[in-house]
Amino acid sequence: MNMAVMNQSEAPSVVTRDRVICFVNDEESAAALRKGLDGSNLVIRRGTIRNAIRMLETDTELFALVTDISGIDDPFVELERLASVCPPDVRVALIGDSREINFYRELIETGITEYLPRPLTRDMVLELLRPKLIGGVVPAQPDRGGHVVSICGAQGGAGATSIAINLALQLAETTKAKVALLDLHLQNGETAVMLGVRPGPGLRIALENPMRADTLFLERAAIEINDRVSLIAADEELDAQLNITEAGVRHVLGLLRQRFNYVVVDVPVPFPPSIYPVISLSRQVLVLLEAEVTGLRNAYALRNAVTNIAGKDRVFTLLNRADRAGGLPRATIVKALGAEPDMVIPDLGKGMTQAVNLGIPALKHVSKLRRHLTPIVREITGVGVKRKGRLRRLLGL
Ligand SMILES: Nc1ncnc2c1ncn2[C@@H]1O[C@H](COP(=O)(O)OP(=O)(O)OP(=O)(O)O)[C@@H](O)[C@H]1O
Ligand SMILES: [Mg+2]
Repeated sequence: MNMAVMNQSEAPSVVTRDRVICFVNDEESAAALRKGLDGSNLVIRRGTIRNAIRMLETDTELFALVTDISGIDDPFVELERLASVCPPDVRVALIGDSREINFYRELIETGITEYLPRPLTRDMVLELLRPKLIGGVVPAQPDRGGHVVSICGAQGGAGATSIAINLALQLAETTKAKVALLDLHLQNGETAVMLGVRPGPGLRIALENPMRADTLFLERAAIEINDRVSLIAADEELDAQLNITEAGVRHVLGLLRQRFNYVVVDVPVPFPPSIYPVISLSRQVLVLLEAEVTGLRNAYALRNAVTNIAGKDRVFTLLNRADRAGGLPRATIVKALGAEPDMVIPDLGKGMTQAVNLGIPALKHVSKLRRHLTPIVREITGVGVKRKGRLRRLLGL
């Protein structure tokens, strides 16, 4: 994105996104940044990458970030934390003490825009940093898009929407990241009802006609559920003739992946071909079923459908309302699935349905739900994966 264009923008909500925020500790570097990045919407603060992380936990309205890693014992650990709260479209440059070429290479591999050794000079900033950070040149970066998780029910009422909503909320709470909840049931979607909000026409327009969905799409179509979670949903008439295109789906998902670290999608089943890109871009596809004959039969078919689109390693079977009275015994389920379910959530009683009727997320009403979602959040965020692998994944390499 070009800064000159952004500065001329009329929309006040977009203007703040042109900020270039710097956290540096030495006066020379601060002065060099002030001169070298002159003309941009520059904010210079004292601090290091740790202060930047703290800021990003609550404020992500920025275009680029420059931050100091000098004096930090393991900058890769801090970078990993930064990556988990920094929107993927924010350009990140680092400054530090090291002049080691291997260190530089490793940093660049993580997806940062540039690294410069301290102290900075105005010429270094002008020649090496400015063009990549705020110039029109988009750095040749690997895909840093947000992490997509799809949720689909093998039978009606399996709990897909309940799990999608509460997973999105818990993911944001645990990681402090920005999470989009995208409901692709445009006509009878339940996410908005369950969250007690009313969607507008923005999502349908964007999905039918991608040329009309620009960066303002998000300002118009995303409903803030809290500081970190936004809902993107529709509420179209049941007799509306929708013409959702694959190009529209790709475009909307692309826009969401630029702004949000995670995109949790409530996916209609069977999958219309136009939404295949959502499945193929998902890191995890959760196939939900209840302990019923219909669920078992459909789960098998749905797992195959997902495998054909996205590959085997993406599918996870989630048995919901396990051990519910009258349900099939576990042994029958394991036999029919050919394996233990990957994830299990027990029946959590009538509080779940009460939450729906109150229009509040079940997490606020059913205390046990959080504990049962924790392993799923862990699977998605990859806690416990060894350092380098996780770092690469978080930055989307
Ligand atoms: N683990 C659970 N324990 C008890 N009740 C649950 C559980 N999970 C979901 N429910 C309840 O089951 C009902 C159906 O859930 P939900 O609407 O999320 O399912 P769905 O798969 O999205 O349905 P649809 O096919 O209509 O989209 C809701 O009343 C919800 O509160
Ligand atoms: Mg649903």
